[in-house]
Parts: sequence; structure tokens; C-alpha cells
Amino acid sequence: LSSKTIKNILENSVTNEKVEVHGWIRSVRIQKNVSFAMINDGSNLKGLQAILTVEEAKMLTTGTCVRIRGILTQSLGTEQSKELQVHDVKILGECGSDYPLQKKHHSMEFLRENLHLRSRTNTFGTIIRIRNAAVLAFQNFFQKNEFFQVHTPIITSSDCEGGGEVFNISNKLPNINEKSLEQKSQSSDFFGMPVYLTVSGQLHAEMLAYAMSRVFIFGPVFRAEGSLTSRHLAEFWMLEAEIAYLFELEELLNFIEICIKETTKYILDNCSQDISFCNQQIDKELIKCLENTINNSFSRLSYSEAIDVLSKANQKFEFLPKYGYSLHSEHEKYLANNYCCGPVFITNYPKEIKPFYMRINPDDKTVACTDLLVPKIGELVGGSLREERYKILEQNLKKHDRSNDYQWYLDLRKYGTVPHGGFGIGFERYLQYLTGIENIRDVIPFPRAASYCKY
Ligand code: 4AD
Ligand code: MG
Repeated sequence: LSSKTIKNILENSVTNEKVEVHGWIRSVRIQKNVSFAMINDGSNLKGLQAILTVEEAKMLTTGTCVRIRGILTQSLGTEQSKELQVHDVKILGECGSDYPLQKKHHSMEFLRENLHLRSRTNTFGTIIRIRNAAVLAFQNFFQKNEFFQVHTPIITSSDCEGGGEVFNISNKLPNINEKSLEQKSQSSDFFGMPVYLTVSGQLHAEMLAYAMSRVFIFGPVFRAEGSLTSRHLAEFWMLEAEIAYLFELEELLNFIEICIKETTKYILDNCSQDISFCNQQIDKELIKCLENTINNSFSRLSYSEAIDVLSKANQKFEFLPKYGYSLHSEHEKYLANNYCCGPVFITNYPKEIKPFYMRINPDDKTVACTDLLVPKIGELVGGSLREERYKILEQNLKKHDRSNDYQWYLDLRKYGTVPHGGFGIGFERYLQYLTGIENIRDVIPFPRAASYCKY
């Protein structure tokens, strides 16, 4: 491409070099003899300061798209190291004075009303850059550990989690000839069976792990979540890994811990400007919290220990913690924020409250699983060893009323079964953790939730 990004120019061009910059005007400051304009193209947080004449500046309003040519100079100010002495301004796209993002503080709610424009703010530019870096960090981590990235379907006929939160798809076959249908006694339904948008690619990833040993997937998943909370979306992205030859739950915990630590370190090292911005503007404890994540061992508690801790906690919960019931968000937050002051793995939940695929422990009451809870958010990762023993899995499937449709899942255990396990990281929750952003709708450019689907 012939144009260069501002980030590239700042990193690679020297002072006194002639440069050409493209971007959108963020702000204009007109003084008596000289004027300044901040120009930003999304490639970095601060953009570039342009120094221009009063006449040139008067043509520019916030939001205008420009091409500016000039000379890169050493900045006299302390805010930036280089600035642009302007020779020529060309307006590529004018911007009306009713532009909603005039330079002033905007509430997150206001920005959510303007999804199509909000990525032009510092906060959302930062989130998009960190989101991009996190994808790369995970990609690097899994490739380094000899995983294959595989692609699993979005349309599926299985309901992995069994939580009753699947979106159904039902379409009629297009252009059907009613007569031929009758003759073949086919249904007019497109797939001829109930199909859904996937809630998790795990079951498909398991099939592939039974051949490729280590696989990971990264894609959108869909859940008809009734709960309108700051940590639930109807469409979110999940990073899932499936690992053959995994014999102990502890090994899975160690691997998840290293995965979170390495990717978090990558973000701190490679997005320092953006992370500092979040620390300043969003959460003053952010860097401390991320450094704690990287440098200290994650705590580990069994589910029954966790229930014990919660029962003795000097805190009023809306829901009483009780053995045999799922942990509520307030319980998870208490365990990570107050009790452990950092990430904590909760392991070995009662089998009744977990999905059919989790491996039953020798006590026959609990399953070899874990949820990783982190401060302020609660559950970030869910994972388990998978039931690889044919007979036990067959019984589990019966108990969960799934015997009919899951012969293929049993087949995997019949033909060369293998001890294995895996986990799923909620990508937007991880971004909340990395940025300190409170509402999950603000870490994805186009959030989807109940009664909310803009564009
Ligand atoms: O705990 P979950 O439901 O686990 C699974 O789906 C497994 N099949 C994953 C696996 O082992 N391969 O979801 C995994 C993570 C949660 O820990 C949470 O971080 C996130 O996905 N998550 C959500 N994120 C945003 N919106 C929602 N509605 C979410 N539901 C779960
Ligand atoms: Mg879970």
C-alpha cells in the first residue's frame, strides 16, 4: 500500500523527513499565530500533532478526514516526541458540525448509542488494538506448544453444554417442489432435523484431537442468555483447546495458568501505551492486577473448600452458598477479589451441576473439572478432563437423556480412546480483565444481547 500509518511514520521516519499522513481530526487548537491539530488513524493511541497556520486550522473540524503533507520535526512539547510541520492540507472527507463525538467526555452509554462511530474514541481504539494483540498472543502461545488451529462449525446438531441456551435455526428449503417432497416423504425443513447455533466447539474439537492430539479453536459462539449482566453476551468469542494424552487435572490447571500468564505478559509488553491509558482512565489498579497475574501462582481450591470458605465468609450474599448448587457471580467475585486476591482455580464440582462429558472422579460424586475465577469478573475459563471410558460415558449419556444422538461420541471411546481434556476461555471476559472495562458490551465492537442487536 502506498500510504503509511501514523504508527509506522513515528517509528520509522526520522526528523526533517518529508512525510504524508492520513487520518481523522480529533481536535483543533487555534492560537494567535499558530495552530495545532491532533490527527489519528487508529494505528496508535495518541496519533500525531500537526502544526499549521490559523487559516489551515479554520478549515478543519473534529471528525474531518484529511491528507497532510509536511516535515517531521522534534517536538518541543512533552506530550509527544515528534510532530508534523504542515506544508499542505487536503480534505478527503468533510465532517458536519453535528458530529456526535466532539472533543469532550462521553459516557459509555452514549457511545453504545453510536456503535458506528465509537471506535474513533481513544477508549475504543485502545480496546480494538488490545483485542487484536490478544488474538496474536493466543495464536503464538498455541503454535509454540504444537497445537493445530482447526475450524469447527457454527451450525450444529448437538448442544454441547446442555444448558438450554441454544438458538434454534429453522428454515424452509428454498424452491421446493411440493410433489417431489411428498414422494420422497422428505421434510420441507432445510436440515431435516433440529439444528442450532453452536454454544461451544468442544465436541467437534474432541473429534479432531482424537486424530491430531492437540488442537485449538477460536470463533464466535452463541447463547440465548436470559441474564442481562455485565459479563454475558448472546454472541461472544471463545478460545478452546483440546488436548490428548492429558492424564491429570493438575496438568490441565498448570497449562491454563501458563497460557493466561504468557498471553497477559505479551499484552503488557506489546501494548504498554494502551494498557497505561486503561490504567489511567478506566481502572487505577489495572497494571498492579495484571502484574500480580503474571508474577504470582494462581490459588487452587476444591469446590467443597470453596463452599466452606463462602459459608464462613463475613459477608452477606444475596444467594446463600450451598453444596450441590452452582456458584453465583457474587460468590465467584468474593473468592477471587477478597479471599484469594487474585486468580483462583475451583476444582472438582459435584457431577450433578456439570455437563455430561466431564470425567467422573473416583469418589463418584465429583467431576475432574475447573473454573478459573479472576478478580472483578468471576469465571474466565471453564475446563475439564473428558470422560474417555466407554462404559461410564454411556451411563452418563443415559442420565443426561442423550443416548440416541451421541453414538459418534461413544465411537471415539470405542476406537482408540485416549485420556484427554480441554478448556474454553471467554475472550470478551479476558478483554474485560485486560482493560478494566466494566461492561462486556464495551469490549466487542458490535455487542449482541437480549433485545439488543444494533446493525
Ligand atoms: O464454561 P463454559 O460454558 O464452557 C464451555 O462451553 C466448554 N465447552 C469449554 C471447553 O471446555 N472447551 O464457557 C467457557 C467460558 C466461560 O468460562 C466464560 O468465560 C465464557 O466462556 N462465557 C461467556 N462469555 C460471555 N458471554 C456469555 N454468555 C458467556 N458464557 C460463557
Ligand atoms: Mg462454565
